[in-house]
Amino acid sequence: MAMPPYILRLSCTLLLADLALMLALAHFFPALAHLGWVGSWLEAGLRLLVLGGAGQLLAPRGPRGAAVLLSLGPAIFLTLRGYVGLPGAAPVLLAMATPSWLVLTHGTAVVALLTWSLLVPTVATGAKEAEAWVPLRRLLALAWPEWPFLGCAFLFLALAALGETSVPYCTGRALDVLRQGDGLAAFTAAVGLMCLASASSSLFAGCRGGLFTFIRFRFILRTRDQLFSSLVYRDLAFFQKTTAAELASRLTTDVTLASNVLALNINVMLRNLGQVLGLCAFMLGLSPRLTMLALLEVPLAVTARKVYDTRHQMLQRAVLDAAADTGAAVQESISSIEMVRVFNGEEEEEHRYSQVLDRTLRLRDQRDTERAIFLLIQRVLQLAVQALVLYCGHQQLHEGTLTAGGLVAFILYQTKAGSCVQALAYSYGDLLSNAAAACKVFDYLNWERAVGAGGTYVPTRLRGHVTFHRVSFAYPTCPERLVLQDVTFELRPGEVTALAGLNGSGKSTCVALLERFYEPGAGEVLLDGVPLRDYEHRYLHRQVALVGQEPVLFSGSIRDNIAYGMEDCKEEEIIAAARAAGALGFISALEQGFGTDVGERGGQLSAGQKQRIAIARALVRPPTVLILDEATSALDGDSDAMLQQWVRNGGDRTVLLITHQPRMLEKADRVVVLEHGTVAEMGTPAELRTRGGPYSRLLQH
Ligand SMILES: Nc1ncnc2c1ncn2[C@@H]1O[C@H](COP(=O)(O)OP(=O)(O)O)[C@@H](O)[C@H]1O
Ligand SMILES: [Mg+2]
Repeated sequence: MAMPPYILRLSCTLLLADLALMLALAHFFPALAHLGWVGSWLEAGLRLLVLGGAGQLLAPRGPRGAAVLLSLGPAIFLTLRGYVGLPGAAPVLLAMATPSWLVLTHGTAVVALLTWSLLVPTVATGAKEAEAWVPLRRLLALAWPEWPFLGCAFLFLALAALGETSVPYCTGRALDVLRQGDGLAAFTAAVGLMCLASASSSLFAGCRGGLFTFIRFRFILRTRDQLFSSLVYRDLAFFQKTTAAELASRLTTDVTLASNVLALNINVMLRNLGQVLGLCAFMLGLSPRLTMLALLEVPLAVTARKVYDTRHQMLQRAVLDAAADTGAAVQESISSIEMVRVFNGEEEEEHRYSQVLDRTLRLRDQRDTERAIFLLIQRVLQLAVQALVLYCGHQQLHEGTLTAGGLVAFILYQTKAGSCVQALAYSYGDLLSNAAAACKVFDYLNWERAVGAGGTYVPTRLRGHVTFHRVSFAYPTCPERLVLQDVTFELRPGEVTALAGLNGSGKSTCVALLERFYEPGAGEVLLDGVPLRDYEHRYLHRQVALVGQEPVLFSGSIRDNIAYGMEDCKEEEIIAAARAAGALGFISALEQGFGTDVGERGGQLSAGQKQRIAIARALVRPPTVLILDEATSALDGDSDAMLQQWVRNGGDRTVLLITHQPRMLEKADRVVVLEHGTVAEMGTPAELRTRGGPYSRLLQH
């Protein structure tokens, strides 16, 4: 892998700036060397200022940690060296040392930068952390209705932490009492206090856990609810770009992960932070020198965790995406299993599924291997610091500044504090990745509606006169291809207008525009002279009803399906609509009549029966404009008579009929013929037939 250019630039900048500073220091302030470790840290501070400034100005793209590492590294090393008491002479100032010290310092920094860029592929400039706090604020806002519970949970958290840190203190008191031999009463009181502290801290911890779990579930339910409500109002273009499996994974996995941020990560972080601070205080009391050494574990653990987390997050995202792909593959194959059977697609589906499964497995393997390596490194770091502490503790024992018991206690505290630091670092990483999941959820919650609920126009009487005025349109998924070009025609009340044309000529697209699934790119669709977008959403969809080629039924009873979207529908209206759609006959013959469950997507009914129910659903509104998009293909019986009845029913209804059946086309009052998205001709069927143009050619097909 080539060295990223920013590393070279940054390293050269820092080296030159450092050289200049070293020369200046050696020349003007040689007295600094007499100050001992204070001098080392003064030099480090100066270097931090100069190197940080130079890095910012001359190589702003590089990681900022480089200047910090370079300037503080030597001072930390020299101080630790002094603590541990390594043999051999060491310089106080880098400026007074032999040039090999400077070379060594910068060489180490370059190696660290290179390792970093190799392990963490993107340049970490701290932007990601800043981004993590944005969802945090929104998460807090989302969880705000839970504030009484949240307040109690945090109170219990504080109380439990207090109890946990006071237990060792109470134990110490009890031991003191025992050693001093103060009577039974004093001992009982001390032991009682210890038991009380333990019991109350357990009780508070339990309350804290229970409350956070409770809040978490309420949060998940509410967020899912909000997300789903915002999804159902999305424009159709959104659903064409997003698979159902992806949305399902946002609703389930990502919302759950997002809920972890507050209820788990922040909870665990605060708890561990409290413990670390308490333990550090005890450790400082025992030996400040050993505490400093033990604290060395913090930057090491945090850096290792940071490298690991960045990689882990990337892998985790890839694993989640792959899992969503696996879900989508299953859903797609199973939902169209009949077609798979018909076209002998079993092997292909099998292959496709095993491919996505393979990818998921490979990603998981990589993730788990990296995790194992990380755990190993973490353990080695921990042991190394412990060995250092033991080595130094041994010296202190010799000097007589620490007792054997003190050293044992210190090691115990250090182990506990170490695990708390690990937990802190882990929670922080987990918080970042959960915040990323929350971001995905917020992306969907933020989405602006392209075709919104729109206008407010609700006229008391609607004639149903539809005009397509010079309409041009391209689908958002394919914006450069015009599907409709300059289309102008009208649908008159009381008439059946047929839209004819070959497959792909743009008939269903006209319907989609009339139903306001999309906005026309140019021109306008008018209803009674008013643009569709000015009408109120619910009103428009009561007045304009569509029966599609593949009728979509929802699981539930026939009654529910007919009255879909109409809360105030009466039983007589449902029966009348079913009768008008010619569905009453077969519904009455069913054992449970209108209460019959139609099964998932209406799977228990025949195609013709489904079409009739879909027609009844349209008629029950009752609509002023009725659109039948190839909706009569599976109907038997005298469908043209039925068509006449639908038009004449309810006054003068406007009917737009799309069909390939010449018999039905001939029954229309007027015909509009579309060819490649433009109007080829229009007129009454008889006129068009005599003209011998596109319409006649269509009839012969
Ligand atoms: N959702 C869509 N996204 C992109 N292109 C589409 C979409 N639906 C239809 N089309 C394209 O628009 C053209 C017209 O389709 P359509 O109106 O469905 O024709 P039809 O006259 O058969 O009903 C076709 O070429 C089709 O490929
Ligand atoms: Mg169509």
